[in-house]
Amino acid sequence: MESFSTVIRTASHEQHVEAETSTFMSDLLGGRLGVDAYARYTEQLWFVYEALESGAEQLASDAVAGPFIKPELFRLAALEHDLAHLRGPDWRAGLSALPATVAYADRVRECAEQWPAGYIAHHYTRYLGDLSGGQIIRDKAERTWGFAKKGDGVRFYVFEGIDNPAAFKRGYRELLDAVRVDDLEKQRIVAECQGAFALNSGVFRGLGAEFSLSA
Ligand code: HEM
Repeated sequence: MESFSTVIRTASHEQHVEAETSTFMSDLLGGRLGVDAYARYTEQLWFVYEALESGAEQLASDAVAGPFIKPELFRLAALEHDLAHLRGPDWRAGLSALPATVAYADRVRECAEQWPAGYIAHHYTRYLGDLSGGQIIRDKAERTWGFAKKGDGVRFYVFEGIDNPAAFKRGYRELLDAVRVDDLEKQRIVAECQGAFALNSGVFRGLGAEFSLSA
């Protein structure tokens, strides 16, 4: 039988390609958009991680989601650092969520509060992605907008507490494989992961509409 980590990866593969090749991501990573688009995207991430991480402390003692809560993953402080660099010291005053971002953060918060197993789907979708493709995004951002390597503006993508991302991801997949729920609940987690990818695509669509090259 396939491991759960393989099932969840396979089940989200198609949507991963969709996210990667979305108009906004392609334009952003293709160097066709200005740093303001990157900053706007980083702002959206702030809302998502605020929802993910404000619920984390409560979940640390949960039997199902608890093993996934690892402080070395937390991104909110790094995002705030990046936003101060991108938007200036008053970054909080100008911060606003797209409707799609509100929907995404609301769903994450709902899972954090009411459904720890569903929270795992959101945790996986974000953090494993940040540890993987995030490194490609960082590299492109550094080159396109001239941020210092692993410095201000891209600290979100730098996991200071994780020396070996490949080993960390292996350990993470072991946690997924050992998740303490029955098969039906695993199916629900997979469906929630697909929902998480769809929520990300929604944010990209919103950003794409705001930073449209053909308009
Ligand atoms: C242009 C944008 C993106 C690029 C270039 C990219 C690239 C990659 C690459 C190369 C991997 C494979 C890493 C490995 O095999 O260990 C990966 C994995 C992953 N990505 Fe992305 N990605 C992007 C966007 C996204 C987005 C938007 C999400 C969801 C929010 C996401 C979620 C994931 C997840 C969850 C994994 C881990 C899959 C697994 O091994 O279980 N990625 N990404």
